[in-house]
Amino acid sequence: MLFHVILSRQEMAESVHVPALAISSSYALDPPRHTVLVRITHWINTLSFLALVTSGAAILLAHPRLYWGETGAFGSPALIELPLPLNLDQSGWGRSLHFLAAWVCVVNGTVYVLSGLMSRHFTSNMLPAAAEVRCSPILHTVSNALHWRQPHDEETMTYNTVQRLTYLSVVFVLFPLMIVTGLGMSPAVAAVLPATVEIFGGHQSSRTVHFFVTGLLVVFLMVHVSMVCLAGFRSRMRAMITGRGAATRENT
Ligand code: HEM
Repeated sequence: MLFHVILSRQEMAESVHVPALAISSSYALDPPRHTVLVRITHWINTLSFLALVTSGAAILLAHPRLYWGETGAFGSPALIELPLPLNLDQSGWGRSLHFLAAWVCVVNGTVYVLSGLMSRHFTSNMLPAAAEVRCSPILHTVSNALHWRQPHDEETMTYNTVQRLTYLSVVFVLFPLMIVTGLGMSPAVAAVLPATVEIFGGHQSSRTVHFFVTGLLVVFLMVHVSMVCLAGFRSRMRAMITGRGAATRENT
C-alpha cells in the first residue's frame, strides 16, 4: 500500500514536470531547474565568450578594415572601414588569449550540445511545439519585454517561445558559424579543411562573417542579461548557479 502511494506521488510529480525546468512543492521530487552540466557549461561558455570578445577586439585594432573575397590589405579597397583607432601593440596577448579561449569554447560547447542531444534537453525544453510558433504570442512577449513588464510566475516555469527560438539559434546557428569562420581563418585548419573557407568565398569573407556573427552574439548577450534582470536577477542567477530557487518573483 505504502509502495503504491509512493509510486503514485512520483507518477504525479513526473506528469506535471517539464524535465529540468519544473518546480514542485516537494524538494525530494523536485528536479533542479538547470542540470549541473548545463550550469557548468553555461558559465564556462560565458567566460570563454567574454575572453574571445576582448581578445578579438585587441586583434581587430591591428587592422580595423573588413574585406570580401580571398585577399585584403591596407591600400586596397575595403568593404567597411571600422571607425576604430589603429593599434598594433595589443595583438600579441590578444592572439594567445583568443586561440586559448576558442578551444575552451569549442570543447565546452561540444560537451553541452552532445549531452543536450543525448538527454533530449533540446527537444524537451527548447524546441517549441509547432502550435506555439505564432506571431501574436511572440509579439506579445517582445512587447512585454520592450515595455519592461515582468513575466508572471507561471510564465517563467518554462522557457517562452521567444527564448526557445533564440537559444536554439544561438546554440545551433550563431556559435557554430562563429567557430567555423574562426577555424577558416587559421591557415593550418584551412589547409586540411579548405571547405571551411571556400563556403564563405575566401579568407577575408570568413573574417567579415566572423565579425558580424560575433556582433549578433554580443547583442544577444546584452538582451539576454537584460531579460534575466527583468525576470528577477537574484532568483535567475541562483537557479543558474545552484540549480534551485527560480520560483520566487522579485522586483529587481
Ligand atoms: C555569451 C554568453 C552567453 C550565452 C551564449 C548564453 C546562453 C544561454 C543559453 C543557451 C541558456 C539556456 C541554457 C539551457 O537551458 O540549456 C541560458 C540560460 C541562462 N543564462 Fe545565459 N548565456 C550567456 C551569458 C549569460 C550571462 C552573462 C548571464 C548572467 C549575467 C546569463 C544568465 C542566464 C540565466 C539566469 C539563464 C537561465 C534563464 C532561465 O532559466 O529563464 N547568461 N543562457
